[in-house]
Amino acid sequence: MTQTATPVAAAPKATLNPEALDQLFRTARTAQAFEQVYVSDQQLHDLYNLLKFAPTAFNAQPARFVFVRSAQAKERLKPALSAGNVDKSLAASVTVIVAQDTRFFEHLPKQFPAYDAKPLFVGNAALAEATAFRNSSLQGAYLILAARSLGLDAGPQSGFDAELVNKSFFPSGRYKANFLINLGVAKKGAHYVRGPRLAFDDVAEVL
Ligand SMILES: Cc1cc2nc3c(=O)[nH]c(=O)nc-3n(C[C@H](O)[C@H](O)[C@H](O)COP(=O)(O)O)c2cc1C
Repeated sequence: MTQTATPVAAAPKATLNPEALDQLFRTARTAQAFEQVYVSDQQLHDLYNLLKFAPTAFNAQPARFVFVRSAQAKERLKPALSAGNVDKSLAASVTVIVAQDTRFFEHLPKQFPAYDAKPLFVGNAALAEATAFRNSSLQGAYLILAARSLGLDAGPQSGFDAELVNKSFFPSGRYKANFLINLGVAKKGAHYVRGPRLAFDDVAEVL
């Protein structure tokens, strides 16, 4: 929209209270060690039932989530983890494998009723791959914020061998691991020194 000469700031819907903004963003930290607590099936359903509403291109929802919670499943995951990620992933209540469905577009006729978007992706592997990666990454990020909003701590990780995870958890080849997210309750103070964030002027411009 073109700005008028004397712009009037948009009147937003109610802003979340400062405590909620702290919990989601300002004081939330990436967990590096976890308390031994159980995260229930109900909590995992609650998590998904929030994150599923956040937007994806064409409402395609390419992410798939494997909630690795049992000791046996953690043992399957362990060989794929980078050395520095082993202890915290085994300690976390759940390690989520965020994967992408390489054939997400098969769901489009139902998931995106506005018009037929499936033909855009059939036979265009590069577009399908980019769309699956971009939107499953977004959905993983939504999961982190949903977890924080439900009072859980999260620890995303890209330090793992995706090929090993794919072999062990997705042998059909249809799904590909994107990244991992540890979930649970962080041990008090179990995080690295807070790294500074780049300032608005360092990263943004308003044209
Ligand atoms: C996609 C992604 C991958 C990450 N991979 C790892 C990892 O493999 N191991 C690790 O210890 N931390 C990993 N991190 C954690 C980041 O280093 C951490 O979120 C960042 O430094 C911000 O920390 P803070 O939330 O405590 O401020 C990853 C974070 C993201 C979002």
